[in-house]
Amino acid sequence: MRIAVIAGDGIGKDVTAEAVKVLGRVSEVFGCAITLEPLPWSADHYLKTGETLPANGYDLLRSFDAVFVGALGDPRVADNRHARDILLGTRFELDLYVNYRPVRLLDERLCPLKDRGPADVNFTVFRENTEGVYVGIGGRFKPGTADEVAIQEEINTYKGVHRIIKHAFAFAAERGHTKVCMADKSNAMQQGHALWQRVFKEVAADYPAIVATHQYIDALAMFLVKDPGQYQVIVTNNLFGDIITDIGGALQGGLGMAASGNIHPGRTSLFEPVHGSAPPLAGKNLANPVGAILSSALMLETLGHPQEAAAIERAVEAAIAARQTTTDIGGTLGTREVGDWITHAIKP
Ligand SMILES: NC(=O)c1ccc[n+]([C@@H]2O[C@H](COP(=O)([O-])OP(=O)(O)OC[C@H]3O[C@@H](n4cnc5c(N)ncnc54)[C@H](O)[C@@H]3O)[C@@H](O)[C@H]2O)c1
Repeated sequence: MRIAVIAGDGIGKDVTAEAVKVLGRVSEVFGCAITLEPLPWSADHYLKTGETLPANGYDLLRSFDAVFVGALGDPRVADNRHARDILLGTRFELDLYVNYRPVRLLDERLCPLKDRGPADVNFTVFRENTEGVYVGIGGRFKPGTADEVAIQEEINTYKGVHRIIKHAFAFAAERGHTKVCMADKSNAMQQGHALWQRVFKEVAADYPAIVATHQYIDALAMFLVKDPGQYQVIVTNNLFGDIITDIGGALQGGLGMAASGNIHPGRTSLFEPVHGSAPPLAGKNLANPVGAILSSALMLETLGHPQEAAAIERAVEAAIAARQTTTDIGGTLGTREVGDWITHAIKP
């Protein structure tokens, strides 16, 4: 496996170093060759060279089996241009239409909800990753005046909606799940989300063994907090998925715990922790590396190495159970010490 590694900015660098250690150990223990090739793309690189990524950047990424990213975002780049080109750009250019977000609570202690445990928080969100309101279509008329008009369009295509819903059902069927819930706002957004309704019913008909349910996104947000145990697989659009996966992160114990994949099945895909670059924590050995380490497990799982992925997950679970964690989730260790602990706990 050849993996491009973009550590990026802030704590992205800190947590990536730990994921790299873990992957090195997996390579040793399982005898699988994992080549990690660092790419310097970051705010530092942009400020030094004026380049966010090189002209052949996306082609270069396509030449790898997968891409691993720490986090991007730096207060010195006010418009976050480099982050937009590297992260959003790659999602669009490599057509990474599946945002894969498992939400699994590893220990009751980490859950902010009263009387909820791991059995109640264990579901997967599939967020459409290439359409919706994030395509950047729109404009501003008379900006900066009292007459300003701002237009931001939401794009929903049959192809885009179909492929993410299909992916959610295929995943559910493969994992033996019995329920898929689609969330939209079709009561208020009567054009775009009517398409989601139509396609959801169409795809659900191909999976008679799976119960297909629908919730409006506002109701789903409430039920994620009141009764998260009802969900197995959730599928939704780009904006709503962005928001509810942060709720998911909170249910798991915080942003430092959450992992994600940006996937085009069968093609080069990108894996990253859900959190950002958290500038105040950067370089202080404070960031929780678990989200990044679990993202490396998602990467191995997606590349067809489920045993190696499971070994990483077991090592993380052991660290949580033994309270060998960073301070954000109640431990006393630093980023590097947690990374070391998990690295040593990797076993076949
Ligand atoms: N995918 C990405 O690369 C990504 C995602 C979100 C934000 N960003 C960027 O990151 C920068 C900071 O954004 P933000 O502050 O809104 O979000 P953030 O995720 O960096 O931080 C939000 C909060 O969570 C805490 N936190 C985040 N990750 C943590 C970890 N691993 N361990 C412990 N605590 C952690 C932070 O200290 C902060 O209190 C911005 O430039 C933003 O654009 C990047």
